[in-house]
Amino acid sequence: MAADGFQFAFTPEVQAATAPAWEKVKRHITPMEWRGQAPLIAEINRLKREKDAVILAHNYMTPEIFHGVGDYVGDSLGLAKEAAKSQAKVIVQAGVHFMAETSKVLSPEKTVLIPDLRAGCSLASSITAADVRLIKQRYPGLPVVTYVNTSAEVKAETDICCTSANAVQVVEAAARQWGVERVILIPDEFLARNVARQTDVGIIAWKGRCEVHERFTAADIVELKAAYPDAEVLAHPECPAEVLEVADFAGSTAAMNDYVLRRRPKRVVLITECSMADNVAADAHETEFVRPCNLCPHMKRITLENIYDALLHGRHEVTVDPAISERARLAVQRMVDLPPPAKPARYDLIKARHHVDVELI
Ligand code: 13P
Ligand code: SF4
Repeated sequence: MAADGFQFAFTPEVQAATAPAWEKVKRHITPMEWRGQAPLIAEINRLKREKDAVILAHNYMTPEIFHGVGDYVGDSLGLAKEAAKSQAKVIVQAGVHFMAETSKVLSPEKTVLIPDLRAGCSLASSITAADVRLIKQRYPGLPVVTYVNTSAEVKAETDICCTSANAVQVVEAAARQWGVERVILIPDEFLARNVARQTDVGIIAWKGRCEVHERFTAADIVELKAAYPDAEVLAHPECPAEVLEVADFAGSTAAMNDYVLRRRPKRVVLITECSMADNVAADAHETEFVRPCNLCPHMKRITLENIYDALLHGRHEVTVDPAISERARLAVQRMVDLPPPAKPARYDLIKARHHVDVELI
C-alpha cells in the first residue's frame, strides 16, 4: 500500500541516509523490499525533524520500523519513561492504543498520534472501569495494581500501575505502603500467577489474557527443547505459568533483549511476539534464533505507510478526558517514580516456590 501521495525513489541520497538502518535489517529484509521501504524511512525521518516529533517504538514493531524510524525503542516501561521526559512537541506511538494513551496521560501538553486507531490489545479490552469499581467494592482497603496494558479509564481507578518489568516490585511496594497482605493485580491472569510465584504477597487476579502469549503451551517448550537441546528458552511473563516452569528464563521484552546481548547464547528461543527475535538478532549475529513466534495482530497494524501518514496529516490524535487523565497520571507516575529495582524482575525463581496464593475474580 502506498502512503498518501508519496513518490518512491531509491536515490543515492536515500541509500546513504538509510545505510545504518540497512546494516541492522539486511538479514531479515531483501534488497528488493528495502528499495521500497528506504525512501519512506528517509522521508519519515525528515518529517520528524520538520514537525519536532519523536517515534516511540515497541520491541514488537517490525525491523524496518524498529531500526529505521524508532527514536526510542523498548518495552512498555521504557516507552512510558521516555514519554514522560521527551522534549518533542509530537509523539508518534509505534505500538498499541494503551501505550499512546499512557504517553498522553504523562505528557498532556504534547500531541500524541497513533498511526492506526484499531491497534488494540486483548488485555486492555478484557476489563472496564466499571469492573474495577465493582472489584474495589468487593475488596475494600486493598490496593489496586494495574498492568499498563489497560485503558486510561481503568488506570484512573487504580492506585499504581506496573509492567512485566517491575510487577513484583510494585506489588511488594503496594503491600508495604498499604500495610496489607494481599493486593489486587489486574487484568492479566497469567502475569498475576507468575508474580505470585515470586512473592509472599497474596494476589487477587482478573481473567484477562494476552491473545499472543496464551497460545504457547508447556508441551511446545518441551518439544523445542528435545529438538534443540542446546537452546536457551526465554519466555514472556504473559505466558501461562506452566510455560515459565519449563523455560530457562522469563522477563519483559527488554529483559529478554538484555539476556541475549549480555550472555550471547549460541542458540535461543524467544517465546513471545514474532518481531522481537528479528529486532534482537540485528545486534546478536553469533546467536542462532529458533523462531516459534505468534503474531500480535494489533501491533502489526502499525506500518511505515501509516506512520508517514500520521506525521504528514497529524493523525490519529489520541485524547484523554482531563479528569480521567489526572487520576490515571497519578497511578502511572507512582510507577515511573519507583526507584529502579536492585535486580530486574526475572521470574526465574519460579520453580522454587510451592505455595501460590491467587484468588481469581
Ligand atoms: P513488555 O514490552 O512490557 O514486556 O510488554 C509486552 C507486551 O505485550 C506489550 O504489549
Ligand atoms: Fe496486547 Fe498481547 Fe498484543 Fe501485547 S502482545 S498488545 S499484550 S495482545
